[in-house]
Amino acid sequence: MKIAVAGTGYVGLVAGVCFAEKGHDVTCVDVDEKKIKLMESGVSPIYEEGLEELMRKNNATGRLHYTTDYRSAYKDAEAIFIGVGTPEQPDGSANLNYIATVSRQIAESVERDCLVVVKSTVPVGTNDKVEQFIRDFLVRDVKVEVASNPEFLAQGSAVHDTLHAARIIIGTESREAEAVLKKIYEPFGLPIVSVNRRSAEMIKYACNDFLALKISYMNDIANLCELVGADIGAVAEGMSYDPRIGAKFLNAGVGYGGSCFPKDTKALKYLARQHGYQLRTVEAAVDVNAEQKTKLYYKACNRMITFQNLKVAVLGLAFKAGTDDLREAPSLDNVKLLLESGSNVYAYDPVATDNFKLRYPEGKHDKGTIQYVADPEDALQNANICFIFTEWDKIRAIAPETYKKLMQIPLVYDGRNLYSPAAMKEAGVEYYGIGR
Ligand code: UDX
Repeated sequence: MKIAVAGTGYVGLVAGVCFAEKGHDVTCVDVDEKKIKLMESGVSPIYEEGLEELMRKNNATGRLHYTTDYRSAYKDAEAIFIGVGTPEQPDGSANLNYIATVSRQIAESVERDCLVVVKSTVPVGTNDKVEQFIRDFLVRDVKVEVASNPEFLAQGSAVHDTLHAARIIIGTESREAEAVLKKIYEPFGLPIVSVNRRSAEMIKYACNDFLALKISYMNDIANLCELVGADIGAVAEGMSYDPRIGAKFLNAGVGYGGSCFPKDTKALKYLARQHGYQLRTVEAAVDVNAEQKTKLYYKACNRMITFQNLKVAVLGLAFKAGTDDLREAPSLDNVKLLLESGSNVYAYDPVATDNFKLRYPEGKHDKGTIQYVADPEDALQNANICFIFTEWDKIRAIAPETYKKLMQIPLVYDGRNLYSPAAMKEAGVEYYGIGR
């Protein structure tokens, strides 16, 4: 099928590449000419395992194209997927300007009947508005329908999540639209759940917010574990055997970050309030997360007289392992506090340092300084304190003895509970984690 995809971020690009992989003829549209050239040469603008290989493979088959010329891409496409961003606005609501811009371009370009599919996460009811908006601005006498097809991929495993999704949600208001989407997804061989548009829009928020809630719940229980002498690792293990609870997303830590959970919890809270309803569970998850992010720093403050002129090793900057994305990363909140308190930060991350440098170039910031190192050992050498913010394997692989050997004061605050407290104690490391 001839498909166009608007937006080449995590959602759009991965969808486009995977559609091409499954045999469709795909054109990815983006406003950024440099990005287009890069993708044409087989280079992915985002760090995502397996993506470049698939891009190169499908660039070569001639099934995958990239352009800034949206008219040529949209005019004869049978389906146009919208995968542009819906960033958070200061009041927590989702910014729909990019969706509106693309919708208008579609209305002005399409020359045949087609299905527009909204993949971006949008407030419930947006698909109705997109359909009306496109119809209002249509230039030619063609029929355009809109369907919802939310995306559930996680960064770091985006290609795998798309090709092996647990389910495909399609939200449509007509049999024709449903049939088109089923045809597109047929080669994937995945379970398809067909619902109406508003339910599909809600499923996306309900899933993300449930997972955010699960994490905040575990962090809340972890904080209580510390007060009553229980171990959140053991508690989570015990919980994980209950199939009604499940074994995933039970890891307590420095709080959730990324491009989805923080944004989607606030957007649903906002949507509920707009309708005169207070979504108390989700609001609680947001509040718990906001405090959780800097819990370790404040825990360390109780131990230290000052951070002034201390060498602070920061291991891990990305919001989670497997990505170079820093959106809402707990490291940002903590490094800000560390610099304000006069620390000399030595930061290590296997892939996210370049992005971090854009926000904090090497050198002086507030009362402190920041430098970036290529190996965790360089950060630890003579350090007075160490914070761990991301669960990278390269950090997990550092032996407890290494902290003892390299650091001037072997003092570790681990936001990911990567180590056994007993092993750290045995190695002579003063070690603090979350919830134990
Ligand atoms: C998430 C959803 O998983 C995905 O379905 C949706 O499409 C987009 O949002 P992503 O943000 O890429 O994906 O990462 P995810 O792996 O879900 O982690 C989100 C955050 O939660 C990270 O900061 C992670 O460190 C944190 N997390 C996750 C925990 O703190 N504990 C856990 O047990 C799991």
